[in-house]
Amino acid sequence: MSEILKSADADAPPSQVIPFGKPDSANDPAPTLREPVRPRILAVANQKGGVGKTTTAINLGTALAATGETVLIVDLDPQGNASTGLGIERRARRTSTYDVLTGNVPMRSAVLPTAVPRLHIAPSTMDLSGLELEIGQQRDRAFRLRAALATLNDGAREIVFTYVLVDCPPSLNLITINAMAAANAILVPLQCEFFALEGLSQLLQTVEQVRTSLNPQLSIHGIVLTMFDARNNLSSQVVADVRQFMGSAVYETVIPRNVRVSEAPSYGKPVLVYDLKCVGSEAYLRLATEIIQRERALKAG
Ligand SMILES: Nc1ncnc2c1ncn2[C@@H]1O[C@H](COP(=O)(O)OP(=O)(O)O)[C@@H](O)[C@H]1O
Ligand SMILES: [Mg+2]
Repeated sequence: MSEILKSADADAPPSQVIPFGKPDSANDPAPTLREPVRPRILAVANQKGGVGKTTTAINLGTALAATGETVLIVDLDPQGNASTGLGIERRARRTSTYDVLTGNVPMRSAVLPTAVPRLHIAPSTMDLSGLELEIGQQRDRAFRLRAALATLNDGAREIVFTYVLVDCPPSLNLITINAMAAANAILVPLQCEFFALEGLSQLLQTVEQVRTSLNPQLSIHGIVLTMFDARNNLSSQVVADVRQFMGSAVYETVIPRNVRVSEAPSYGKPVLVYDLKCVGSEAYLRLATEIIQRERALKAG
């Protein structure tokens, strides 16, 4: 991350520099016709792998769709776990988020429906791991996702997205910076394990840097504790520590470790579809309710 910022402003005086250049939209004239609906954009981010980012994106997306929202999950991990977990086969990924971020391909061309009504996905492929090489020298490299999402709801459409959830890779690289530059808010899954807090300050620091240089409106939506194991004293200790350290940023809902949650992706289904009654599904429904409540509070100002 610091490397990306450094290389960007090395050749210009710091006071005048916007490290990644201006987004294309900065010079657009004010829209005069009917304003397209702007979706809320939440990025699910943590540079650690295996903490529950993809699981949270899939199941939060499903829960939001169940409450009537129209949701797009943008898979920004080259591993493509969100795409696989939602049943999108590799050969169906003809247009991917790589094409959207590198070419002039509109986000809509990558969007595929899922088996869940009102839940859609823009899938990823391994190509995405080459993003940095491909666009790392471009002035607008950090704003590719923001630009692609700015036109998501343009034109008369049957499907108008109200939420975009961005599933980030386990790294603070250019892909994650694109997600942070495009997002209204960040959602951080933290696994209930001994090193839960390790790396969190680096993540928060990155969010702060993105806020000051690329995206002044960026906020932390909340921290969700995942894979809580009631039989393990350490899990409870971690919950207590994280709540003490991060206060009200931590959602009340804690996601338990639940085998049904880990089985669901191999069937290409969200756990909410695979087994609605299991404790994992119940927890994700509670989390969605909490998130919607926070959203209402934010909208009310
Ligand atoms: N609450 C949970 N209970 C059991 N297994 C889980 C739970 N949440 C995630 N997992 C499993 O843990 C692994 C990592 O989760 P994942 O969401 O892919 O993390 P990330 O996207 O942060 O790498 C996956 O195999 C997933 O199925
Ligand atoms: Mg993942």
